[in-house]
Amino acid sequence: MPTHLLDVDDLTTDELAAVLDRAATIKANGESDLLDGQTLGMIFEKPSTRTRVSFETGMTQLGGHAVFLGPEDIHLGHGEPVKDTSRALSRYVDFIMARVFDHADVVELAEYADVPVINALTDDAHPCQTLADLLTIREQFDGFDGASVAWVGDGNNVCQSLVLGAAMTGIDLTVATPEGYAITDDVLDRAAAVGTPPKTTHDPETAMADADVVYTDVWVSMGQEDERGQKLKAFDGFQITPEMLDDRTLMHCLPAHRGEEVTDAAIESDNAIVWDQAENRLHAQKGLLAWLSER
Ligand code: CP
Ligand code: NVA
Repeated sequence: MPTHLLDVDDLTTDELAAVLDRAATIKANGESDLLDGQTLGMIFEKPSTRTRVSFETGMTQLGGHAVFLGPEDIHLGHGEPVKDTSRALSRYVDFIMARVFDHADVVELAEYADVPVINALTDDAHPCQTLADLLTIREQFDGFDGASVAWVGDGNNVCQSLVLGAAMTGIDLTVATPEGYAITDDVLDRAAAVGTPPKTTHDPETAMADADVVYTDVWVSMGQEDERGQKLKAFDGFQITPEMLDDRTLMHCLPAHRGEEVTDAAIESDNAIVWDQAENRLHAQKGLLAWLSER
C-alpha cells in the first residue's frame, strides 16, 4: 500500500516532523538527483500558480519530471471514472498529484492507485499548503512553541488543514470564522485525535488578542463564484488591515484578493511573510516527494 497525503493527519506526528526536516535539509543543501528518472502526474481541475510551478520545478530540481494534466487534457471524471484514471496513471508515473473540487475524488484516486497520491487542494483540504506554512512558522519562530496564530477568514480547505497541522505540532491556534463558515466537526474531532484542537470564535478581535501571527485566505474560493454576494456580506468585519495587524505577522496562502480579505497596504507591509510561504511550497513539496520515494 503506498502512503498517500490526502490531508495532514494521514501522516503521524513523527512522519510530519520527518517530512519537514527533509524539506529543511533539501532547502539548506540543495540536493539534486533524489528522484532521478521519476515522474509526477499533476491533475488540475482548478487553476494554480504556486502549486503547479513549485511541484513541476521541484521535480526538475530533484532530477525527475512532471506531466501537467489539465481539465481539457485527460478524461478524469467526465470521459472515464476516477478509478480508471487512477489505475492507468499508476502504470506510468511514480506519484500522482491532484487538485480537484470534490475531496471524494482524491479519496477514490488513492483507493485505486499503486503510487502515492498527493492532495494539491480540494474544497475541503490543502495539506501541501500546510506543510509549507509549518516550515515557515518553524523558521520564523524557531520552532512551534513560540507562535500563537489567529486564523481570520473562511473555515474551508486551507484553514482545515492548518487546524490539523497546528494540532499535530502544538501551535496555539484560534480560528475566527463568520457564522455558517466554521470548520467542520469532523476536522475538530480529527484535530482532537492528533493533538490539541483550536479555540474557535466568530469574532476576529477575540482570535487576534494574544496572537503573533494572523493568517487569512480568500473569501470566495475557486468554484464559489456564484456565492460571491452572499460571502462578501457574511465576511464583513473580517478584512485584515494594517491597523488590525498592528505588529503581528501576516500569513496568506495566496492568491490574495486585495480589497476583500486583506488590504493592499497590509499585504505589501513588512509584516507580511507571504513570499516566504510561497517559496516554502517548493521546499516542503521536495521534502515530501523525497520522503515518499524513500518509503
Ligand atoms: N496557495 C496555492 O495553492 O496557490 P495556487 O492556487 O497558486 O496554487
Ligand atoms: N481557499 C482558496 C485557496 C486557494 C489556494 C480556494 O480554494 O480557492
